[in-house]
Amino acid sequence: MINMINKRGEKMNLKKLLLGLTDGAVSLDELPQFWDEYAQFYERLQVVPSYRDLSALLLDALFPCPGGLVHDGGCGVGYYFADILDRTQAVKLIGTDFSPEMLKRARHSANKLSQECGAALMVEVKHIDLVQDWPRGPFDAQIFQLVANFLPGTNWKRIIDQSYRTTKPDGYLYTTTMLAGLSVQELAKKHILHEALGSPLASYPAMLKARNTMKRFNKLASNGHITQPCKQEYIAYHRQVGFQEVEVIGEAFWGAGIVVRARR
Ligand SMILES: C[S@@+](CC[C@H](N)C(=O)[O-])C[C@H]1O[C@@H](n2cnc3c(N)ncnc32)[C@H](O)[C@@H]1O
Repeated sequence: MINMINKRGEKMNLKKLLLGLTDGAVSLDELPQFWDEYAQFYERLQVVPSYRDLSALLLDALFPCPGGLVHDGGCGVGYYFADILDRTQAVKLIGTDFSPEMLKRARHSANKLSQECGAALMVEVKHIDLVQDWPRGPFDAQIFQLVANFLPGTNWKRIIDQSYRTTKPDGYLYTTTMLAGLSVQELAKKHILHEALGSPLASYPAMLKARNTMKRFNKLASNGHITQPCKQEYIAYHRQVGFQEVEVIGEAFWGAGIVVRARR
């Protein structure tokens, strides 16, 4: 077995490293670079059944806000820009993220959309660390798909607080978050056959890498660097902040996560 020493002085297996299967933990200040790596294969994951089901769930939950302004927070590569605009009928979308690689791809998606739709539509992509800063608003809708549970500490609460502050009355907050206690990896093992059979071969490496990502985030969670909410706590916090009609729209990843819609 050939090993290498990483910059934190940890021993790492070279074969695993080359396959992208490193189990070295990520530290909090490396998170943007970590998401940069993830950006390389994130799009390939979107065709895997569990991701397809999740995006259908979220998109079906979106209410129209014709002519409105929408925030796609932690927008990643901008994979959902077109669908979000289609469902909401908004005329302006602001996508925010803090990973340069994600932003590069998101800007490409935004430019493509602008070329297709012309001046009737404005898609703006901004570099914002949502733990430090927030776009101005006020928004008709804010969407955070698989973002809140990846923030350090209990910053999942900040997503709800800041969204309340910057969403118009009667506007909506839509979030998908993973929950404390259930391991996606364990659940995924039970569903691996269905996932594999329903996915093109080209997405298999991305599935392996995503597994590795989850492992690293689990480490951050078990070290207390990231605190994922419990289901009741997550719902209750929306109400505590002032949101009304807080609904669980459905489950993500076999119950390891939930999709929530809340009216301001
Ligand atoms: C799992 S991806 C989800 C991407 C997108 N929402 C989607 O569903 O396709 C999480 C995204 O959140 C972004 N993110 C994580 N922490 C962030 C932060 N503090 N500020 C802004 N974006 C962040 C990552 O860069 C990444 O693009």
